[in-house]
Amino acid sequence: MLGIRKTFPGVVALDGVDLVVGQGEVMGVLGENGAGKSTLMNILYGLYTMDEGTIEMQGKKVHIRNSADAIGMGLGMVHQAFTLVPNLTVMENIILGSEPSNMGVIDVKDARRQVTELVKQVGLDIGLDTLAEDLPTGFKQRVEILKALHRGAKILILDEPTAVLTPLEAEELFKSIRRMTKAGSTVIFITHKLKEVMAITNRITIMRRGKVVASLETKDANFDILANAMVGRQVQRKFNFGPYKPGETLLKVEDLKAASKHKTEALNGLSFAVGAGEIVGVAGVEGNGQTELVECIMGLMKPTGGTIRLKEKLINKLHTSEVLKLSVGHVPEDRALNGLILDFSIAENVVLGSTERTDFSKRGVMVPKRIRDFARKIVQSFSVSTSGIDVKARNLSGGNQQKIIVGRELAGQPHLLIAHQPTRGLDVASTEYIQSLLVDSRNAGRGVLLVSADFDEILDLSDRILVLYEGKFIGELQRGASIGELGRLLGGIAAS
Ligand SMILES: Nc1ncnc2c1ncn2[C@@H]1O[C@H](COP(=O)(O)OP(=O)(O)O)[C@@H](O)[C@H]1O
Ligand SMILES: [Mg+2]
Repeated sequence: MLGIRKTFPGVVALDGVDLVVGQGEVMGVLGENGAGKSTLMNILYGLYTMDEGTIEMQGKKVHIRNSADAIGMGLGMVHQAFTLVPNLTVMENIILGSEPSNMGVIDVKDARRQVTELVKQVGLDIGLDTLAEDLPTGFKQRVEILKALHRGAKILILDEPTAVLTPLEAEELFKSIRRMTKAGSTVIFITHKLKEVMAITNRITIMRRGKVVASLETKDANFDILANAMVGRQVQRKFNFGPYKPGETLLKVEDLKAASKHKTEALNGLSFAVGAGEIVGVAGVEGNGQTELVECIMGLMKPTGGTIRLKEKLINKLHTSEVLKLSVGHVPEDRALNGLILDFSIAENVVLGSTERTDFSKRGVMVPKRIRDFARKIVQSFSVSTSGIDVKARNLSGGNQQKIIVGRELAGQPHLLIAHQPTRGLDVASTEYIQSLLVDSRNAGRGVLLVSADFDEILDLSDRILVLYEGKFIGELQRGASIGELGRLLGGIAAS
């Protein structure tokens, strides 16, 4: 793949990327969230069209217009989300779309023989007659791999394959990958995990913000080289931090456990505290338990074990509305889903979750004028660009939507602010503004829990950094830690 460029509205996802893979290789493509890995692979597999660039196979330029073309050229892809038909068996799913036919009739016996042979060859053991919906996640992935191979894939793309696997299942996957490449297949292995690229690949291409920043042989790599290349660093932003003097403990989490949809354990015994006057950053590549952590604290999900306390009060069993009343502000990860009602006006949105605030109502009845004044105040003090407070949230830019949420949440002067990806997708100016508000809150003696996959943001703002990896804190860093230190932890390498 040469000079590949791809833009989405407002984002350059790929900015002239080259990826060269040789036959029989396991090529690792390493990068943090949003680096462009999936976009690059979706182009190769014919799911996205590129804006610029060329793809060559065995020296010849090819045109991949859709995934049928890609499959025809011997490409196979296993996505982060699976595509099996739930009420078909494993066998039926594998042969779907590539049934060997005998005068137009499916030759079931022949198909079964082929699939059994394939299973033996690659060592991905699985019962062929189980219904797909009854399979544990790790086995669903095996079916996807077998399906791709059965269709004749010579180049297999695995996008973050171990994200849904237990360590044991990952080990088995690695064994099959070795068998496949020994038999002449080529594997492109996408990951953000340093140990995995070191263990299974023979070459590594590292991407960051839509560009390839390094490409090297695995034998020449080590954790430091990889961690530095993966995380990198943009300009360091300067904020006015007052002296670091954390006060009383506001949030105390002990041995927190939670289950998730696809893994049995999403949180595996987290313990930490946030004090008044500090920003505690939770860093981690997305999907390592961040969402579950925030949801447990905010009463959106029930922990399976451990305790969460606000000051001394146990809040494990409280509903979100009750948690918010305990002087907690919440800037949610998905602002369009949980932060705003897009079809409501700015004025209506600024009172969401706080309709019981006494300053909006008189003897239990809402006073519209007070709400409208409050909305105007937020618009003014946060420089929200809009023609008025009756504009629907839907019609604001992402940055302005976020200002409304942060303004609303900070207006109640909460003791503790939970900020989850507070600047994701925002332009530079809005990002800096929102970040400066977090710093101001900290300087004013509030506690801030900053959960972010933006590592610049974590390094710039946090007094302490907790690194979440596979549902556990793998290490803690202090302000001033290097990118290398953070990168190693993010990639799953604990300090020695
Ligand atoms: N379908 C899409 N629409 C808009 N933006 C997208 C789309 N897919 C990816 N992006 C953006 O492109 C960038 C690269 O994303 P992606 O390729 O998914 O990264 P990675 O797989 O390395 O985490 C991100 O900024 C992401 O938000
Ligand atoms: Mg991806």
